Amino acid sequence: MSGVNEIRSTFLNYFKKNGHEIVASSPLVPRNDPTLMFTNAGMVQFKNVFTGIEQRPYNRATTSQKCVRAGGKHNDLDNVGYTARHHTFFEMLGNFSFGDYFKEEAIALAWNLITKEFGLPKDKLTVTVYHTDDAAAGFWKKIAGLPEDRIIRIATSDNFWAMGDTGPCGPCSEIFYDHGESIWGGPPGSPDEDGDRFIEIWNLVFMQFEQVTKEERIDLPRPSIDTGMGLERLAAVLQGKHDNYDIDLFQTLIHASEEATGVKAEGKFRASHRVIADHLRSSSFLIADGVLPSNEGRGYVLRRIMRRAMRHAQLLGARDPLMWRLLPALVREMGQAYPELIRAESLISETLKLEETRFRKTLERGLGLLGEATEKMGDGDSLDGETAFKLYDTFGFPLDLTQDALRQRNISVDTEGFAAAMERQKAEARAHWSGSGDAATETIWFSVRDKVGATEFLGYETEKAEGVITAIVQNGALVQSAGEGEAVSIVVNQTPFYAESGGQQGDTGTISGDGFTVTVTDTQKKNDGVFVHIGKVSKGTVKIDAAVELVVDSVRRTRIRSNHSATHLLHEALRETLGTHVAQKGSLVAPDRLRFDFSHPKPISDKELAVIEDLANEIVLQNAPVTTRLMAVDDAIAEGAMALFGEKYGDEVRVVSVGTALHGDKAGKSYSTELCGGTHVRATGDIGLIRVVSEGAVAAGVRRLEALTGEAARRYLEEQDERVKAIAGVLKSSPADALSRVTALMDERRKLERELTEARKQLALGGGSASGGAQSETVNGVGFIGKVVSGVNPRDLKPLADDAKKTVGSGVVTFIGVSEDGKASAVVGVTDDLVGKFSAVDLVRVASAALGGAGGGGRPDMAQAGGPDGSKAEAAVSAVREALAG
Ligand code: SER
Repeated sequence: MSGVNEIRSTFLNYFKKNGHEIVASSPLVPRNDPTLMFTNAGMVQFKNVFTGIEQRPYNRATTSQKCVRAGGKHNDLDNVGYTARHHTFFEMLGNFSFGDYFKEEAIALAWNLITKEFGLPKDKLTVTVYHTDDAAAGFWKKIAGLPEDRIIRIATSDNFWAMGDTGPCGPCSEIFYDHGESIWGGPPGSPDEDGDRFIEIWNLVFMQFEQVTKEERIDLPRPSIDTGMGLERLAAVLQGKHDNYDIDLFQTLIHASEEATGVKAEGKFRASHRVIADHLRSSSFLIADGVLPSNEGRGYVLRRIMRRAMRHAQLLGARDPLMWRLLPALVREMGQAYPELIRAESLISETLKLEETRFRKTLERGLGLLGEATEKMGDGDSLDGETAFKLYDTFGFPLDLTQDALRQRNISVDTEGFAAAMERQKAEARAHWSGSGDAATETIWFSVRDKVGATEFLGYETEKAEGVITAIVQNGALVQSAGEGEAVSIVVNQTPFYAESGGQQGDTGTISGDGFTVTVTDTQKKNDGVFVHIGKVSKGTVKIDAAVELVVDSVRRTRIRSNHSATHLLHEALRETLGTHVAQKGSLVAPDRLRFDFSHPKPISDKELAVIEDLANEIVLQNAPVTTRLMAVDDAIAEGAMALFGEKYGDEVRVVSVGTALHGDKAGKSYSTELCGGTHVRATGDIGLIRVVSEGAVAAGVRRLEALTGEAARRYLEEQDERVKAIAGVLKSSPADALSRVTALMDERRKLERELTEARKQLALGGGSASGGAQSETVNGVGFIGKVVSGVNPRDLKPLADDAKKTVGSGVVTFIGVSEDGKASAVVGVTDDLVGKFSAVDLVRVASAALGGAGGGGRPDMAQAGGPDGSKAEAAVSAVREALAG
């Protein structure tokens, strides 16, 4: 019996033997399609190859593609855990022909693989074809020798595959495996087809069309093949299982969660273990591809998946965060086939742990609320949208978590009411995720790329070069020329201008030729390496085919170089100081500053920051040369180069090494090694100095550093220095003594404040003389001190009353304080012996009423209140006096 890893490689090697290129899985975040949330099929990375926009050096390919179906057209989240074959994450095995072979060879290749290599018995296999597809039916008969009744014609969309509302599509033919009579169900197309006996294992799509808009469908330039076979389903068949969760890979994960929780995957706990195993896979792979939990877009889908699993961990009684503890088992099972999992392990672990720790804080209370709200509900009832929204808004329960929690009791949720509640709360409709805005799909650049090819970049070596203008674009259309004052985008066959990427800003400068100059304000990269110089014609008329000189703004570029190399040094210094979970989450390399976002769960202390800065500057002072090598991507990663997860790298990558490590395991080796296409300093000394100027949070688990280098850092320090000198001047001290002088002044100030408070108190009590006391009188046989005081803080009234209580011995005291703006506050104290007779709270309310206020509060022996009208202060004292008089 073959394990999942062996089945995967058998599949890929079979197609390799048959002339196919083994292509690595593309990231789960699609790079070439802003309409798609996640890669949901093997063909996604080849979409533009099918439509003819993109060319590849091969016309047959095979992949094992990571897929996520949770959100968007193909969404399996609701059912996961409760059925035998739904997953949020799965691997799709596929073979592809880009205008090479078509139906006949696709069927022959598939049939041979499953019956010969995998040895599935022919009598267990049934196929379907689209109802009008006589050709496919004929090939099945000829190649597989299947009888008519096992080549079933289906007229529905089940046999017409489309990637989404738009994109390549075509009729398809599916292969079904018969799990035997012991399981209920009928062949496809029969009344019992929804049963579980006949299971689709492979879908062969005969890609023939492109759905351009909802209404318009056109022919693809060349008929092609796209096949997709769920690895988990195939493994189930080959391992003699009926349920995907019984295959070796899932069993390992389920055992890990059984072990960690001490709860067997049986009875009512079965679904929870399955949810956890499935969601562990999707969460980990999404994080490895650069998605982090958040409240919108892809990040929110990830959060929904994670929290759904976390509720199930809680159902299993897990006391501490569980998911991260299962990660090592996943990495052991799948890390070899998907090395990104190994590279991102510490980030995944941190992220899982952090999210679960946070969510646990509100999970219990939310479940409590849900329990109360549904206590009296039963089968078929519905939870109101308001409560579901409250769970979402206050307790962080995604809607599908609430639905999932009520599922077993067959209680639904009023989703319309939920949406309405959400709408009400958010008057400003939150901008929904609407694609990555990937500029690669601006169609004009596809034709520019076809016509003129990729631009050769000369900017690593030079900042000045000659070239020929190959395209001029204005308002999204190609033009032959552009006149003075007009905005243009210009493509040249080669350029020293760096196009924005990897956080490094695009270059600026000039492009000039016979009688014209274009001022370039930005450079961007479009479609597979077309460099676009964006700017304005500042003189003359620029024409297509003109010979030009391109000059980069050198001062600006020099600053950018320095900031880029400093970014690498800070990245490494952060990892060295905080740990290897630190991974780049974004960066900006501008001429005036650098910004670096990275994963780290908590603020960085000043001490840590000082160490980070010191480590980076140590390498600056080394003045070590910065070296760049071109390497095969796998070799570079094997050598420990840091790669950005989810980034698309070519076969050959630039590897930038900066400085020599002085401490730790790496001592003597390169300090920082990163895959990077940016421009860098020649030697670290060119950076001059690195100064971190701010540190803060940008999103949950993501921190941001901002730093300056070289001249900007020096100027920053100079300004700080000027400030200290100015402070010293005011203090009539030297910069060196300024701190102790300020400390002494602060101490003195505190002492004076204390003395002032004391003096005011004395003044209020006794009219200013230390020997005087507060005037005590007797009202209705009770001692009474009543006084209006000004210039005393409301918070100092109570200590006054305490003192007065001591003075009067037995009695009632009241003070009305009047502030500068004419407002009043009142305090009433009652000595302990009289507490049964008078209540300070009642009396202070009397005072407050006289002051035009209402209320007041405190204890029976001491209460306080406010009032708007300070001019009634004396009247308030009298009111209390009268209240005592009865
Ligand atoms: N694109 C088809 C599917 O996803 C075949 O790969 O089923």
